[in-house]
Amino acid sequence: MNKLIINADLGKHTIHREIYGHFSEHLGHCIYGGFWVGEDSAIPNVRGVRSDIVEALRKIKIPVLRWPGGCFADEYHWRDGIGPPEHRPSMINTHWGGVVENNRFGTHEFLELCAQLGCEPCICANVGSGTVREMQDWVEYLTFDGESPLSRDRAANGREKPWQVKWWGVGNENWGCGGNMRPEYYADEYCRYQTYLRNFAGNELYKIACGPVGGDYHWTEVLMQRAADRMDGLSLHYYTISGSWDKKGAAVEFGEAEWFDTLKQALVMDELIAKHSTVMDKYDPAKRLGLIVDEWGTWHAVEPGTNPRFLFQQNTLRDALVAGLTLNIFNNHCERVRMANLAQTVNVLQAMVLTKDDKMVLTPTYHVFAMYMVHHDATMLPVALESADYRLTGESIPQLSVSASRDGGGKIHVSLCNLSPEAPAELTLELRGIEAAAVSGQVLTAERLNAHNTFAEPDVLRPAEFTEASLKRGGLELKLPARSVTVLAIR
Ligand code: AHR
Repeated sequence: MNKLIINADLGKHTIHREIYGHFSEHLGHCIYGGFWVGEDSAIPNVRGVRSDIVEALRKIKIPVLRWPGGCFADEYHWRDGIGPPEHRPSMINTHWGGVVENNRFGTHEFLELCAQLGCEPCICANVGSGTVREMQDWVEYLTFDGESPLSRDRAANGREKPWQVKWWGVGNENWGCGGNMRPEYYADEYCRYQTYLRNFAGNELYKIACGPVGGDYHWTEVLMQRAADRMDGLSLHYYTISGSWDKKGAAVEFGEAEWFDTLKQALVMDELIAKHSTVMDKYDPAKRLGLIVDEWGTWHAVEPGTNPRFLFQQNTLRDALVAGLTLNIFNNHCERVRMANLAQTVNVLQAMVLTKDDKMVLTPTYHVFAMYMVHHDATMLPVALESADYRLTGESIPQLSVSASRDGGGKIHVSLCNLSPEAPAELTLELRGIEAAAVSGQVLTAERLNAHNTFAEPDVLRPAEFTEASLKRGGLELKLPARSVTVLAIR
């Protein structure tokens, strides 16, 4: 029997809305042919930014967008992307297909995109192949409110007023594509770079040091030991890779073995956060620093016939389950997880929206983010879950995943994932501290494990009303469909 206890009268920590953040890189068709179509496009746009994407993402209140990479960030030189477009130099995007990057989308365009989305920018700057001065100048160009050559350049390029840019990454994956550094070396570089990052005009920077990939606890240890007092956050990257790194599984053509394996891998996020937090606690017991999971999501094989370096993949019910259970993990660790950014918003990896010419389709992952919006800035409620196991060929994972929160108006929201492909789950929910008067909910599920939305059939998966909850004294009785993500609202 599954049993869930929610302590509705407890809860101290906020689920910062930035946990629901996103990531956009100059990679494949995330920016070009995705967010950015250019002013002259027949596709409706405002100042070059595609309007249907903006409308879709505004609906789910995306809080923050990370840019320009990823690996691209440590090759990017921001000055190449300002000024009259016809004067901007081109470069080769060596990481992502060797395509020519003409720098048409640069600093001003990114900040314009964030303004249209109503979200905060998070800029990841170049440590691997850039200079301290370049990074220092970028901050001044963006945020200095007085008279300086750089603020005059900004005005000449069309922006008189400084921008507010709080979130600032000092390099990306500097243990790999960002310079192949040892943690000791990067820690020293981090300390040097961050020295010159200034707070202008009330723009208080939140400095994010490059953190580990997966279970590299040594990297975390060294960074915390040498640089904790000079940073605000440490990043963590973890991807749920189907199959293996060298032989990734297909995004759509998979069976139960791949379903199980993917969900099992996604659950590793919980252990990673717990263990990296333990290392961080040693140096930062007050939890001043945030763990910034600024790249996460599924990584499957690219769709047949597409550029292997453009990382274009379809998105099925399986991806929705990965999103739901991972967001539950982040919610439950919100005391340490300050921000997270799903990779990558449009047309790349676990995308929220896919585009083809003038068509756009919302993925199952988008719908999970829409359903979970109720957790933004709510107070996380401690839960205790007793879940049955989901077993396959001698292995097992918990069948259920959960998180809960209380919003400013006192409403309780509970998000539940049933990972079993076949078995519905009966669940007794004991609500401590309040007596529930009403319950409603939404559920996302489908007949097939690999159900997905396409341009021809965009609504195969969309949230429906959830009717399998009944009030009883002290709580609720629920019946969660197999392979589903459910969010309840309890008054
Ligand atoms: O998101 C794709 C790539 O994955 C990013 O550029 C890099 O940071 C990571 O390895």
